[in-house]
Parts: sequence; structure tokens; C-alpha cells
Amino acid sequence: MKFQLSSLEEYQTAYAESVSHPENFWNAIAEHFQWRTKWNRTLEWNFNAPDVQWFIGGKLNITENCLDRHLAAKGDQTALIWEANDPNEISKTYTYSQLLREVSRMANVLKKMGVQKGDRVCIYMPMIPELSFAVLACARIGAIHSVVFAGFSAASVADRINDSQCAFVLTSDGMYRGAKQIPVKAVVDEALATCPSVQKALVVNRLNWPVVMATPRDVWYHEALDGVDDFCEAEVMDSEDPLFILYTSGSTGKPKGVVHTCGGYMVYAGYSFANVFQYRANEIFWCTADIGWVTGHSYILYGPLLNGATTMMFEGVPTWPDPGRFWQVIDKHHVNLFYTAPTAIRSLMAAGIDHVLPYNLHSLRVLGSVGEPINEEAWHWYHTHIGKGRCEVVDTWWQTETGGIMISALAGITPSKPAHAGLPLPGIQPILVDAEGHEILGNEVEGYLCMRFPWPSILRTTYGDHERCRINYFSTYANLYFTGDGARRDSDGLYRIIGRVDDVINVSGHRFGTAEIENAINQNKKVIESAVVGYPHDIKGQGIYAYIILADATQGSDETRDEIIETVCEQIGRIAKPDKIQFVSGLPKTRSGKIMRRILRKVAEGELHALGDTTTLLDPLVVEEIKAGAL
Ligand code: WTA
Repeated sequence: MKFQLSSLEEYQTAYAESVSHPENFWNAIAEHFQWRTKWNRTLEWNFNAPDVQWFIGGKLNITENCLDRHLAAKGDQTALIWEANDPNEISKTYTYSQLLREVSRMANVLKKMGVQKGDRVCIYMPMIPELSFAVLACARIGAIHSVVFAGFSAASVADRINDSQCAFVLTSDGMYRGAKQIPVKAVVDEALATCPSVQKALVVNRLNWPVVMATPRDVWYHEALDGVDDFCEAEVMDSEDPLFILYTSGSTGKPKGVVHTCGGYMVYAGYSFANVFQYRANEIFWCTADIGWVTGHSYILYGPLLNGATTMMFEGVPTWPDPGRFWQVIDKHHVNLFYTAPTAIRSLMAAGIDHVLPYNLHSLRVLGSVGEPINEEAWHWYHTHIGKGRCEVVDTWWQTETGGIMISALAGITPSKPAHAGLPLPGIQPILVDAEGHEILGNEVEGYLCMRFPWPSILRTTYGDHERCRINYFSTYANLYFTGDGARRDSDGLYRIIGRVDDVINVSGHRFGTAEIENAINQNKKVIESAVVGYPHDIKGQGIYAYIILADATQGSDETRDEIIETVCEQIGRIAKPDKIQFVSGLPKTRSGKIMRRILRKVAEGELHALGDTTTLLDPLVVEEIKAGAL
């Protein structure tokens, strides 16, 4: 079985084989990696438990596959390029042998701190090279990394640390973000006040920010490096040992820790990268995501490195010093494959073509999109003005839970159609079902998107709460993994993702549960109750619209709005700030006390005359008030 497919016929053959003989298919793909011990059974699965295991009995270390394995042929090839926030700061590059050295040194520091195989390590760091070293160093020694995006608040960091009982935190003094300098260590300090499990914190010096070091808990990375060895032997891991935890939001409760394991994740991250992007030797790949999200895990680090690619990480933001920054970086580093989110494309499109024209963008070959539906206008702008009409566009649909890209064009090989993710990758078996779980056959149909067969990087559990994993993903429809998304299948069998059908909203490609934001808002003392819905937003895809009941209705001022926004920033982080806050005296509830979100969504969307049946409401008058005050 070819690892990288190179024609439509090859895709069709591989796809057919992956469905008719999935174990043979994945055996052949997994052979392309380096195992310390080969697996003895390929797959055991049961979606009802759920219990999925791949490459059972196999032993490996993913960093040997990402690093050591490439040394003979590519030791001096660039593995990682780091571009700083400030265009005037010199960028850094690491060859494969240098990256192995940096990862080994960090791994040896972690060992010195007492980190052991199976320990959970929280990484809360900006996009600096040490973040990449830290992730890989954990994998090197078999510690389970839990990266928390550095935009989350202290309360969110604490929740995540406590949920998985991390004993170690890796962080930095501060971070740059455009023109701003933002404290990072201070956020960790605040979080750790409520995290008794944490024994040690390692601090990277990024900007000489004055920080308080609590001894003996806190250690500077540059000091800890003193005298450590340049090589660290890789820990031998079982296929099904956890590799990482990554928290993501669902429709209920607090964010949950999605668990991925070493063997299956490795195989799928490597396979999907090679095929979707059709990576060719010596090309430069740039994924603009933050390593704090799954896209950064799979397509800044693991996927590209597993393929011996050159991958770039960028510390800055798309709009600083000006909205031409992405395009300038592409020209500067001759980026061939560029992978970003629709929200970034829309905001740069809005900034105007004058910011694109100064750059030639000749190096580009493939453009990728991820994280949310890409509207046709943004797709065409991307294709025409960035790709100059000659680059392949891949709209990649996947989730934190899937570990890798599931439905997408394979660049130049399978069809790419605006606003459509396209065909499933080999090994991926999507199915559309109706509300009762009956399969919807044929084309030109729409339904709930599920998967009927496991793939190697399907989530294994949600940390510490397997039952929640079962309920969230495997209980809605018997024997199916439910994605939470709705989708259409067009006349050619291409999938178009419509969006979430649960109470998850996708704001600038970031997932939030509406209940999670409501809980944050309700922490404000002036608030009695709130209801949050998403509404279409030109740049962010979805915006956050909050209906709020105050204890004292006379306090419905802009000042109160600001205070509530501040509460959300404290509870979750600035990325979850409501865009609109409407103060109301009541919420539309059924007689059984359930909020009718459908009505709130319609009002937020501005569809005041299409509210449907409101007669079952406890107090229909509330709807009139809400309509009158709609923002
Ligand atoms: C949405 C990000 C449409 C979808 C990798 C999914 C998309 C959620 C696309 C997962 C796409 C992701 N087109 N929608 N190409 N990619 N989504 O876990 O709703 O942060 O369920 O993973 O983003 O978000 P997550």
C-alpha cells in the first residue's frame, strides 16, 4: 500500500481497500513507521463501551519517528523554522539534528525535575521554540502533555490542571502579541494558588519580564539546562499509552480532556499530513494555528515532523504590524504549503487587497483551511488573491476528537469545490443519519454526520470520565461516533459541513459550549441568569450573543456590560468575550423550565418574524420584550 497517494485512481483503490479490509490497509500504512516492537493485533473495537485499540502490543516512541529516524538522510535539513512576533527579530531555524538535541535537553531537564512516564504535564506557553521542545520532550520521556492555549485565564488553567492532576507546569515569563506584552507566569501563579497537585513549574525567559519565582517550586529553564546531557534516550511506549490530553468544549459542563494515544495518533497524523497536503521533499509548510489547539499539535508538530518536512511556527498575529504580515512571511521563508483558518482569511480580506499586492507569493502551491466552514466568498478570495488561481485549496474538516483531518480534498488529487470539505480520507467512513439514527442514503441529502468505523486516531476517552466520553460521542446513535456536526452530501458525494447541531458555538474557529459561557457570565454578582447563543458574524463566523437578567434591572448600563465582559475574561479568557449583551427581564422558557434557544437564536440572527410557535411558553410576553430590544 502506497503511503502517499498520487492519483485519483490510487485514492479510489486505497479507499475501497480501507473499507473492505481495514486491518490490512492500516497494517500496510503503519509499516511505514518505526516500531520498537511490531503490534500483534491491529484493531479491537466496540463503540458501545466505547473501547477502541489500535496496533495492540506495538511499542514505539513517536519522537523517534519525528526526529531520530530522519537523522541519517536529513540531519542537516531544517526541521523547524521559528518566525518571531516582531518582523525585525531574527528568525530561528533548527535542523533535524539540532531539534533532537533541543528536545533531548528539555527532556533531560524534565527528568531532573522529577517528571516520569505517565505524569501529566501542563504546558502553558506562547508560540516560542521552547513550546515545541516541551511538547516533544514530554513525548520523549512518556509524560502526557496537556497544552493549554496561552490565551486562557488563570481559572481555566487551574480547571485543566486539576482535572488531570498535573504535577508539572511549563510556562514562560510573558509573551508578545502584536504590539502588546502580556504576562504569562503571573497567570500561572494565580492558577497554582488552587492547584495542590503541582510540584514544579519550569519558566522560559522570553522577554525579561520581572516575575516572582516561588522557591523551590519555580525553576528557570536556562538555569536548569546547566550541565544536562545533549541526548535523551526515548522511552519505549505501548501503542495505547496516552500521548496527550487536550481540553475542548462540548455542549454540556466544563471542557473535557480528549485523550489520544501513541500508536494510532502517530499513524494517522503522519498519513493525513502526507496525503492532504501532498507534501514533497524540501517544501516548507506553515500552519498558522497555535500549538494550544489540536491543529497545532497535528499539523505544526507531529504530522510534518513524522514526514521529515520543514515546518514553521509563528509567534505573531496576522494583523501586526499590518495586515500584510502573513503574506510577507510567506515570501520571506518561501512557504509552499499554507494552512490557516477562515476567520483569518475573512479579516485579511476585509483589510483590503492593498496589503496583499506588495508580495509575490510565488512559492505557494497548496492552501489549506480549517476550523470552521469557509464561505464561498472567502474561498474565492483565498484562491484568487493568495493562490493566484493556480494553488490547490483544501478545506479540511476534522475535530480535536478525531486527531487528524477526516474529510478533505487531497491536494490536486480528489475534487476541491468551494465551501465543501470533499471526500473522506482512506480509512474514514462517514455516514449521515436522521434524528432517529437511520442512515440517509444517496446523494443530495443532509443529516447528522457520524462515523461508522474507527480510524487510528479516534479519541480513546475523556480524561478521568469515560462515561462522559460515551454519552457525548457514542450514545446519541447506536454503534456510531457522533461528530456534533450537520452535513450535506452533494450529487458527487462530496461533503459540505453545515456546522454544529449541538450547543457548541464556533467563534473564530474556537469551540465553546454555550453553557460554559453562561456559567462564566453567571459568576458576575449582578447577574441572575443568562442564555448564550451564536449568531452569524462576518469575520468570526459566529459571534457570541448573551441575554442576561440582572438582579437590579436599573443597572443595565454599558458599565455593567464591561464588568460582565471582564468576568468572562477572568473565567475563560479574552477569546470568549460576548460580542453582544442584551439585558432582559426574563427568558423564553417552556412550562417545564427549559429555555427555548431556538427563539433566542432567531432573534440574534435578526429573524424576528420567523420565531415559530411560541404558545408553549410560560410567558409569551417575554418574547415581545426580547424582540423589541434586539441588538
Ligand atoms: C468545525 C478543529 C467546517 C466543526 C480542527 C467541528 C469545520 C469543529 C471544519 C471542531 C471545516 C472544523 N469546515 N467546519 N473544514 N473544520 N470545523 O475540535 O464544527 O477545534 O466539529 O477542531 O470545528 O473544532 P476543533
